Amino acid sequence: MTHKICRIWGDGVGPEVMEACMLVLDETDVDIEWIDAEAGWGAWEKYHTTVPDHTWERLGETQACLFSAITSKPGIPGFKSAILRIRQRLDLYANVRPVKTYPGVPINYRDDLDLVVVRENTEGLYKGIEFHPVPPELMKLTKLGSNPEDTAISLRVFTKEACERIVRFGFERAKKRGEKMVAVAHKANVIRKTCGMFLEAAKRVADEYPDIEMWEYNIDAMAMNLLKRPEAFGVIVTTNMFGDIIADEASQLAGGLGFAPSASIGEEYALFEPVHGSAPKYTGMYKVNPIAQVLSAKLMFEWLGEEEEATRLENAVATVLKEGKVRTYDIGGSATTLEMAKAIAEKL
Ligand code: NAI
Ligand code: MG
Repeated sequence: MTHKICRIWGDGVGPEVMEACMLVLDETDVDIEWIDAEAGWGAWEKYHTTVPDHTWERLGETQACLFSAITSKPGIPGFKSAILRIRQRLDLYANVRPVKTYPGVPINYRDDLDLVVVRENTEGLYKGIEFHPVPPELMKLTKLGSNPEDTAISLRVFTKEACERIVRFGFERAKKRGEKMVAVAHKANVIRKTCGMFLEAAKRVADEYPDIEMWEYNIDAMAMNLLKRPEAFGVIVTTNMFGDIIADEASQLAGGLGFAPSASIGEEYALFEPVHGSAPKYTGMYKVNPIAQVLSAKLMFEWLGEEEEATRLENAVATVLKEGKVRTYDIGGSATTLEMAKAIAEKL
């Protein structure tokens, strides 16, 4: 079966890691028809929108999207991050960030980590409902004092439905992985309304899974435990901003940004991308590690039902890392982006 996949090359080092990834994927037995589309800073400069109409069309006519990295710049009127727009419009509500160590990577925290952070991807503090200056009726309502110019508000929006579906996604993932426990991270003792709703939803969903325990953590305790005993965790489910932060923290336990893939998954569609950004200072140097992009493609294979090829791809990456002969700069080597990709391709 041929899979129709939208491919977005992105900005900065994006095209370099994508080129490397294609070298690798050419050696797999997954049949893909690539449909190229533009998004990000390059698209903004050309079309004055980060996601042009033809990209929405191509996303609409494909099964999934393989995305590289894009540049976002703050303070530009009308500019909105392409990746946030795509996640929200396509309702890609589950952000999945595996953190897995491959032996041979010299900066691993320990070699036996294999966990996944499941983060709510559509609401919370990232909903973008913000006020500055604050309108008079809100100033009054919240008893904030008198100066709307010196006050700013960002609203944290939670819905029961979104809370339940993300926790259910986490429990389903845990079931698939054969986990006995799901860790739910929140701050319901302080942010009572929103985190309270999340925690209540988590308890209800947990009741549907009698074979899997739910452990709950305050987010600060979770941040600490991730460093203290990361091997204790399998699936961690949390809200949007908390997930953003702890997933970056956790990625450092397993080789850093050069090794961190991600998936944004909805009911019908999914997008796969490395966690890292466009790393502008390395653009054009073919220096950065392509493994985060390659492992993102591996997550895409799994989602497409190409489990065998996903495993073969991951094994090729693991073998190259274990041998340690080819290493990019981030793990102490001098191999280029494409040399790393060729080494992986050869193992396939
Ligand atoms: P970044 O992730 O682009 O780079 C930070 C540093 O991490 C780099 O300077 C480099 O030392 C290291 N790094 C990144 N990717 C690497 C790789 N594949 N191999 C080895 N080392 C790697 O983050 P930064 O500098 O904060 O942002 C640069 C641009 O990327 C900004 O415009 C930002 O908005 C955008 N960005 C885009 C994301 C996306 O496409 N989803 C995510 C994060 C940032
Ligand atoms: Mg982040």
